[in-house]
Amino acid sequence: MAIRWRGKLSIDGGPLDADHRHLLAIVNRFDADCAAEGNRPALQRALSDLRQFARRHFVREERLMREAGYPPERVREHENAHRTLIARLGTLVRHYETSAGDDDLAEVVWETADLLKHWLADHLVRFDLPLKPYLKRSARLSAPRATAARFWAARA
Ligand SMILES: [Fe+2]
Ligand SMILES: [Fe+2]
Repeated sequence: MAIRWRGKLSIDGGPLDADHRHLLAIVNRFDADCAAEGNRPALQRALSDLRQFARRHFVREERLMREAGYPPERVREHENAHRTLIARLGTLVRHYETSAGDDDLAEVVWETADLLKHWLADHLVRFDLPLKPYLKRSARLSAPRATAARFWAARA
């Protein structure tokens, strides 16, 4: 069953929400294409989409949390959690590439589903959602600066 985006998942009403919606779309397509049929091209597409997405998203999220003044020890914890997800993805891709038969493939599908469940139910809740108040405060603080910059630029 497809997982739907809900307002309580929102973190910044901007780029990180867009990324997380994209992650949900990858998960839902994986669920529809791979879990049901277990077909190799669909599994390959899901893994390659996830790898591309993860790198881009983690760089963006890490930059925004630093800019928002997130406490350094929590930044480190969160970045470590990202490294762990990247490592698990790498292991999955290697397992996929060396999988020979249907049993192997079924195992990779199961491992991918397990990783995605962890990503959505654990990482998103434990590491991403706590960023929300910091991102909100940082957006509030930078809004007057941006307005002032536009004002002075218009007068120049
Ligand atoms: Fe994260
Ligand atoms: Fe995230």
